Amino acid sequence: MCGIVGYIGSNEALPILLAGLRRLEYRGYDSAGVGVLANGGIELRRTAGKIDNLQALLDEEPLSEDEHKASIAHTRWATHGPPTTQNAHPHLDHTAEIACVHNGIIENSRQIRDQLERDGHTFSSETDSEVIPQLIKAFYEGDLVAAVAASMNRLEGAYGIAVISKDHPDEIIVARRGSPIVIGVGEGESIVASDVSAIVGHTAQVMFLEDDDIAVVKSDSVEVRSIDNVPIDRRVTEIDWDVGAIQKGGHEHFMLKEILEQPEALQNTIRGRLDHRQGTAILSGLNMGPVDLATVQRIVIAACGTSMHAGMVSEYFFEDLAAIPAEVEQAAEFRYRNPIIDHNTLVICISQSGETADTLAALREAQTKGAQVVGLCNVVGSTIAREAGRGIYLHAGPEIGVASTKAFTCQVTALLMMAMKFARTRRMTRSDGVALAEEIEKLPDFVQVVLDQAPRIEEISKRWSKSDDWFFIGRGCLYPVALEGALKLKEISYAHAEGYHAAELKHGPIALLQDDVPVVALANDVPGRSKTLANIQECRARHAPVIVTATEGDEEIESYAEDIIWIPRTHHFLTSVTTVIALQLLAYYIARERDCEIDQPRNLAKSVTVE
Ligand code: M6R
Repeated sequence: MCGIVGYIGSNEALPILLAGLRRLEYRGYDSAGVGVLANGGIELRRTAGKIDNLQALLDEEPLSEDEHKASIAHTRWATHGPPTTQNAHPHLDHTAEIACVHNGIIENSRQIRDQLERDGHTFSSETDSEVIPQLIKAFYEGDLVAAVAASMNRLEGAYGIAVISKDHPDEIIVARRGSPIVIGVGEGESIVASDVSAIVGHTAQVMFLEDDDIAVVKSDSVEVRSIDNVPIDRRVTEIDWDVGAIQKGGHEHFMLKEILEQPEALQNTIRGRLDHRQGTAILSGLNMGPVDLATVQRIVIAACGTSMHAGMVSEYFFEDLAAIPAEVEQAAEFRYRNPIIDHNTLVICISQSGETADTLAALREAQTKGAQVVGLCNVVGSTIAREAGRGIYLHAGPEIGVASTKAFTCQVTALLMMAMKFARTRRMTRSDGVALAEEIEKLPDFVQVVLDQAPRIEEISKRWSKSDDWFFIGRGCLYPVALEGALKLKEISYAHAEGYHAAELKHGPIALLQDDVPVVALANDVPGRSKTLANIQECRARHAPVIVTATEGDEEIESYAEDIIWIPRTHHFLTSVTTVIALQLLAYYIARERDCEIDQPRNLAKSVTVE
């Protein structure tokens, strides 16, 4: 998705803007640009492609930057119009006096554009975003904030914007509705961005805007007002991510770094949350006492992509451990399906970024319908976390690679602890709770055992890396893990991969099996294993090569497959975490072998802030 950075302060702006844009690269983009106030006007440099192209353009045609004036920059992920220079941000109004960068989508841009064109505005791009500076100009009568507010009253859709104007060289106006904007408050400098990653390194003091906030950002002050011009006091909070945590730490890709740091990430998710005496979990962020927990009669999970798979794994936890009916809804479907939920339904909105548009919309729908709602997010202060008002933070640290890895394992672990908490207020005995808590405590070590097999998984990956079609099969809580394994492979290696319940294969997909279509079978020693072994035989009978994950010590499995990845014996629910690590490594090494852009796969964005 798009990324916004803006700077005003005593330092040279351009290096700060470009460094900020690079930190946002992980979100995915296909063009980039900067806009600065200079020589009494606004100068732009924009280009299709990567930030390196923008840097090259700036070297060729340097900006005549006036010191200490407001400046903005952007990475665009194309929605309306292809990734060209003309469509790249910032966009100007037709008099080139106001410039704007925008994240999100303006749904009524066509109507606004038609009207403005009738009024004499000329447009130079195909984007929806260009209507914003044009509209601000149309309303502008000397008060920029008032013009931004009036424009917001006309705009429909989602947006985070940063605006500069030649008449107001000492300020950046930022505003949001549905798309995040965060302001870093430094010493004699302010930096605005769509994501804290762009701010980390300058200051740890940040202010998150809420929907319909408009902020006037100067080098030494930030003033927030509502769209109705009422002053608002937004708190400055301190973030604890450091620059080192968002750099690659010596690894070739963020994805590998994030896979390998899972023992530590899991430690952070688990730390202080297990009550070994009572055999339960301490999740104070849920803000639910035993009576609240007891009122929950049904759990509905709304999420997308990998987060949805984590939710699907947890269905098994909630139903089996706590005897609470649980179901997962693709978050977009939740919003439009008019789901039947009431105040006894707990809706869990899972999102690593906390900004996914469909999951956010599901959260709002659940709140409107009077359900109890909690968030499960990684990014502290993200919109979903704030709007849910209660929930669990993963504490997994920043996840930069577009392919989600450590967030998944930390989500599953957090959900298991949550299920345990519910279970202890219902049918789980103290001793069963104590035993499960002990196993969860050991999870980082189990994960390390799988990571230690990376060289062997790399070897297997090399053998099969040329295959363009794959199947992943599993049962029980390993079924969603099979879905996740297929998603990981397809998104970073561009090989076609499908995840199926092992039993489903023979209801159609088996027709596609042949000797160049590998099947990854999750045949760990968990309930249903013997049936999965039978499914493996069906695959082998169609000459499909089979790669299995199996429980350490399972001698029988050796006659079923040549390529075996050993997974330590644990509580069977924890195998969802340990097994997915093997699939993450498999996908990573295959993608590397296929020379793919692993951290920023084509067409993908780290957080999908449009529907
Ligand atoms: O930030 P979220 O967890 O809400 O993101 C949801 C999906 O967009 C995300 O998991 C996506 O599927 C990843 N690319 C998967 O690796």
